[in-house]
Amino acid sequence: MNRQDRDAIYGLAREWVLEAGKAIRERINDPLTIDTKSDANDLVTTMDKDTEYFFMNRIKSVYPDHSIIGEEGYGDEVTSLDGTVWIIDPIDGTMNFVHQKRNFAISVGIYHDGVGEIGLIYDVMADNLYSAQKGEGAFKNEIELPPLSLKKNFHESILGVNHFWLCENHLVDEEKMQEMVRTVRGTRSYGSAAIEFAFVAEGALDGYMTMGLSAWDIAAGIIIVNEVGGVTTTSFGEPINLLKKSSVLTCNPAIQEQILHDYLRKGRK
Ligand code: IPD
Ligand code: CA
Ligand code: CA
Ligand code: CA
Repeated sequence: MNRQDRDAIYGLAREWVLEAGKAIRERINDPLTIDTKSDANDLVTTMDKDTEYFFMNRIKSVYPDHSIIGEEGYGDEVTSLDGTVWIIDPIDGTMNFVHQKRNFAISVGIYHDGVGEIGLIYDVMADNLYSAQKGEGAFKNEIELPPLSLKKNFHESILGVNHFWLCENHLVDEEKMQEMVRTVRGTRSYGSAAIEFAFVAEGALDGYMTMGLSAWDIAAGIIIVNEVGGVTTTSFGEPINLLKKSSVLTCNPAIQEQILHDYLRKGRK
């Protein structure tokens, strides 16, 4: 993708993300229609659907030849990352949106022929926009994020980990995970993969690991984390394939090998 095209796409994507976020803030206290999807805790609201529809409409009116992968079904049937593909999570952290009215984000990742070009994560209620273009650094609002410190010590790290890793699960021995969380300085669980990626980019978390994410949860985050020198793989160190659901580890490279080798690979079932 050439520089001029990318700048134009970035400008519009940023404008639409801010516009969509403003619309959500204005309607934050409106009554919600809440449905469930795969199970009783897998929530979706009219706001998730309206927001994705808004992006689909805007993108198709300006770029009819671009493809869209979206969580709520307004996107295209995408089977390859050829061409320009917008990967959108209209509300990442719907449970937080419903229960807390905060700690949710709009996530937009734009890929060209499989290469991550633009990432935008908007923490809507905090009004913090994390953004990156490939090779241009990552920003929180107007401030450039510094590269991650490679001096990070595992014992002094804070990891984004949810309870699923500590309960009986299909991927790793929970004892190994309990050992890991006792070894690090602390753990956090924010309930929005996009916000957790943004926190890794910002250095507020040193790593974030999760079991089963889709392209829309991570597409923007991978690009933003990459721009500060962070690394993202599956939980066993394999490259991420955005066309399938997978486990994810995104972190400061200084602690990657220790997490993968000492805990995830050794604990693998
Ligand atoms: C969810 C959030 C959550 C993660 C789930 C995702 P959604 O996305 O990112 O933090 O643990 O796996 O599905 O459904 O709120 O967009
Ligand atoms: Ca969802
Ligand atoms: Ca999501
Ligand atoms: Ca979502």
